[in-house]
Amino acid sequence: MIQDRAEILSNASVAPGYRTLTLRCGKAFGAARPGQFVMLSVGDGPTPLLRRPFSIHRMVAQGAGEVTMALLYKIVGEGTAMMARLPAGTTVDILGPLGRGFTLQEDYRRIYLAAGGIGAAPMVFLLETLRQQHRQGEYHVFLGGRTRDDLLCREIFEGLAHKVHYTTDDGSEGAQCFLTSPLENETRRRPPDVIMACGPMDMLACVAGIAAGLKIPCQLSIESVMACGMGACLGCAVRAADDKSGYLHVCKDGPVFDARSLRL
Ligand SMILES: Cc1cc2nc3c(=O)[nH]c(=O)nc-3n(C[C@H](O)[C@H](O)[C@H](O)COP(=O)(O)OP(=O)(O)OC[C@H]3O[C@@H](n4cnc5c(N)ncnc54)[C@H](O)[C@@H]3O)c2cc1C
Ligand code: FES
Repeated sequence: MIQDRAEILSNASVAPGYRTLTLRCGKAFGAARPGQFVMLSVGDGPTPLLRRPFSIHRMVAQGAGEVTMALLYKIVGEGTAMMARLPAGTTVDILGPLGRGFTLQEDYRRIYLAAGGIGAAPMVFLLETLRQQHRQGEYHVFLGGRTRDDLLCREIFEGLAHKVHYTTDDGSEGAQCFLTSPLENETRRRPPDVIMACGPMDMLACVAGIAAGLKIPCQLSIESVMACGMGACLGCAVRAADDKSGYLHVCKDGPVFDARSLRL
């Protein structure tokens, strides 16, 4: 894990309320794995005080000395609103790569990726890495959002996945249901080797239930509220399945967990 200054190369709107920030970072960030995250200081002044956590969305090596990292973010509060105003050329303080990412096993052939809303952010880095490592793999993406504007990264997923299954809460695109409906149908019809998911907690709990019921391995990326990002404040606790462990911490035990280790 390193702390560095990174230069903003671009900070562009990709859908209403969503933006992509690209950063020129030191080469140490090139070791990041899918599912890991960074803590970004969105301003130099006292407000907001804390760094904000963001999943690594994309990573491109740029020669020997540096990498380009992209973060996909949703504007939800003060920090992300400040972030949206940062122009290209600004330098920001960045800490990372942090946490435990997805476990990519050689023998995984058919993989189902479930992404709800901004949960699409880490799934792009994940799918790009899977594609590089196992070109022959069969990847299905289950992409859900409240409306069609919340279905993010469609072109990227279409270009990399065998099939993308769209769902929206309001029916403005794809099936009008939660993404867990087609995920469950497909999992029953053609069981994958693993399900990997990122999204709201309710969605993750449902995905974990489907996987447990059908005895499919499942990894969940959790985006809890976080303060320090390094295991010091204990502010990101989630209940462990095992009573002896009590609580796990998203920033150091996760953010990606084996679904069986959590009580959701
Ligand atoms: C490991 C990890 C990875 C993340 N990756 C991404 C990402 O790739 N893209 C992205 O847009 N966001 C991501 N998040 C969430 C992001 O960190 C928060 O949205 C951000 O910190 C909000 O900052 P803010 O100052 O704008 O909002 P605040 O003013 O701090 O909060 C505004 C509102 O959002 C709620 N909120 C804050 N954090 C979260 C959260 N984690 N989940 C749900 N609600 C929250 C608050 O309760 C409040 O209601 C991630 C979080 C974690 C822990
Ligand atoms: S955010 Fe401080 S312990 Fe996890």
